[in-house]
Amino acid sequence: MDGRDLVRAVKEIGTARGRRAWRSAWSHRRADAEGLPRRGAERARVPGLLTGTQARPGGGVLRFARSELLVRVTVGGAVFWGWDGAGPTPSYAVVGGGPEPDPRAVLEPDTGGGWRVVSERVTVAVSRHGAVEVRTPGGAVLRRELPPRWWDPVAGPAEGGSRWLQRAEVPADARFFGLGGRARGPRLRDGEYRLWNTDPKGGFGPDTDPLYITMPVQVVVADAGTHLAFYDNTWDGRVALRGGEEGAGSGPDRPGASELRLEGGPARCWVLVGTPSRVLQGWAGLTGAAAVPPEWALGYQHARWGFGSAAEVRRVVDGYAERGLALSAVHLDIDHYDGHRVFTVDREAFPDLPGLAAELAERGVRLVSIVDPAVKAGDAVHAAGLAVGEHGAFVRDARGREVRGEVWPGECAYPDFTDPAVREWWGGLYEERLGQGFAGFWHDMNEPVSFAPWGDATLPRSARHVLEGAGGDHRAGHNVYGLSMARAGWEGLVRLRPAERPFLFSRSGWAGMQRYGGTWSGDVESGWEGLRASLALVLGLGLCGVPYSGPDVGGFGGSPSPELYLRWLQLGAYLPLFRTHSAIWAGRREPWEFGPEVAERAAEVLAERERLRPYFVTLAHLARRTGAPYVRPLWWGSPEDRVLRDCEDAFLLGDALLVAPVLECGADRRAVRLPRGRWYDTATGAAHEGPGQVLLDAPPGRTPVLARAGAVLPVRRPDGTVGLEAWAPARGRTGGGVVIRDPGPGFEAGEVERYTVRWAGDTVLVEDEAGGTVRGVELRGL
Ligand code: NOJ
Repeated sequence: MDGRDLVRAVKEIGTARGRRAWRSAWSHRRADAEGLPRRGAERARVPGLLTGTQARPGGGVLRFARSELLVRVTVGGAVFWGWDGAGPTPSYAVVGGGPEPDPRAVLEPDTGGGWRVVSERVTVAVSRHGAVEVRTPGGAVLRRELPPRWWDPVAGPAEGGSRWLQRAEVPADARFFGLGGRARGPRLRDGEYRLWNTDPKGGFGPDTDPLYITMPVQVVVADAGTHLAFYDNTWDGRVALRGGEEGAGSGPDRPGASELRLEGGPARCWVLVGTPSRVLQGWAGLTGAAAVPPEWALGYQHARWGFGSAAEVRRVVDGYAERGLALSAVHLDIDHYDGHRVFTVDREAFPDLPGLAAELAERGVRLVSIVDPAVKAGDAVHAAGLAVGEHGAFVRDARGREVRGEVWPGECAYPDFTDPAVREWWGGLYEERLGQGFAGFWHDMNEPVSFAPWGDATLPRSARHVLEGAGGDHRAGHNVYGLSMARAGWEGLVRLRPAERPFLFSRSGWAGMQRYGGTWSGDVESGWEGLRASLALVLGLGLCGVPYSGPDVGGFGGSPSPELYLRWLQLGAYLPLFRTHSAIWAGRREPWEFGPEVAERAAEVLAERERLRPYFVTLAHLARRTGAPYVRPLWWGSPEDRVLRDCEDAFLLGDALLVAPVLECGADRRAVRLPRGRWYDTATGAAHEGPGQVLLDAPPGRTPVLARAGAVLPVRRPDGTVGLEAWAPARGRTGGGVVIRDPGPGFEAGEVERYTVRWAGDTVLVEDEAGGTVRGVELRGL
């Protein structure tokens, strides 16, 4: 127990919930003492020397004295390697068993007694000691995995396998990104990162780690190329990262290093190489295309824990309407439940929820419901869950007793979402929500949380999970609990409303969660540091394949100053999920609560988001088709620009825009790094040439936004129709862009419209694919 824990523990013992949390923490500790295999004597093992090989499609199996390695290159160029018999399946992340082996890849002897798999896009070289090197076709080394090391229990194989360690080297100039949602970044600093989804309890700042979504995914950007490495293993672990150093003068480089330690599970990895866009496309191919949110979920949304009544919801919605502020959705938190119990409604405070939902829908405002996984012991949902399958729907301990934890409603049981039958049952429960008129779902507390006055506020590690039939304990199931809940909700909603794309976003998750919707920041603290962390999270998650996310605008737990609130709103307006939210004890988040000046500027911010909404629709569809996140780091198109790899205070929104939010208190201008090419300041029209840095004015009402010369993007016109905005290319250059319009609420892919832009004498022409001139385009930058 650390100091913070101790203070909390002492405080909590004074409340009934606190006492229950104490009891539950003790019972979890006891369950682990009884049910968790004790770590006995262990023997370290390395693969030893290569003894033989056997060619297989896409590569082969390499036998070593004390292990064997499967190496496979797939048709898209993705590399898989797995030790000790590990193959690509089963996997929570990879869809359909992964891509086919590349039939043209060949296994052949390499120099020094090693072997290599040569393919068109990548070469994988394996040394006779078991080091695995991933090289570009030109021979540049992108990643070198050293031989792994295992600690095998002397008493015989343990459930889930042995602990293992994997060291890797990357080029000296490389930068690390990813590992899921990290508050400090997006560039990952030297240090240790845990792989264990965690509710940071009471809010987080830039130094809090880990958070709700961890993933063993590294995106590494170096001169030699970009690659993504994914250690497909759900177990608890730690990654230590250390940046490299380039040798001074003629001195040697020191490579960058990653050291991964996992408590069990398969030793296997996927490596994808190429440009950033190719790598993310490969990742989407491997782990599934991102869900496209419904069109309305790309508008501005207002949430609050503690509306308290339907009347208050109406009052807030009226407030937006009276001021002409566009509002797309209102989110109801756990206070609308009866006694905080999931799938119930407090009928006194919300006597006619379907009526309220219908009334709001008339006004263009959807209702979104929070959904917590923990089910109050003894209530109707619990009783129904007990009837699922042979053993009921809930997680049990090693002795078969239901595991209980303490959450908002009191003592709770936890559905085991890793059981397909439980997912099916749970998915059906959304019928009640749809019946109440809810149009979207906000999964919370699904790390999962069990309040604890000390230690790990989750289920005991000995708790049993079905794990799709494989069986295992919480050490293997924990990190995929939120992902599996998202799957249950998504599949249930698709069954219930087959003609509609669900709107779902989830606090916890794992690699592949984008298949079932998005996520949000969680309880980011209400300070300037929280504002920065908001951007770091969205950027980092985007690079891990989760393109739809956004922060609690204003921060979760405090009362932001008017200046901070406005800056947060300005940032949020350019992020996929644009939502204000706050805790029941925190200040208000309606724009007019911050004085007339902020209200006026907030109106401009919301109007700009509305104007750009068709662009967000395009980006959502592109994310699904290509894996490219809407929000991208500045190095996205220029990974060779080393300065941009360290730039964390600005981002690209699609191909067209560069957004440079104000993240500092009192700032009224800021420096902006530009990738190569010409960029127009959208406020002044001034053209700037990249690469380089410019200083731009950023008075309180303005967020510097630059448009790429030659860009074409769809915008909403004042009359509500969708038109095109085009930015002049540099003289002698051409440009273009794609537009995908909202195909409606279903699963249609939407048609891709391609436009080109060129100079014709003194004017700029925008042409469609057939070469026809497009009329009515708003031309800028002339
Ligand atoms: C924690 C969530 O992160 C927060 O957004 C929510 O308001 C509270 N739980 C209450 O449900």
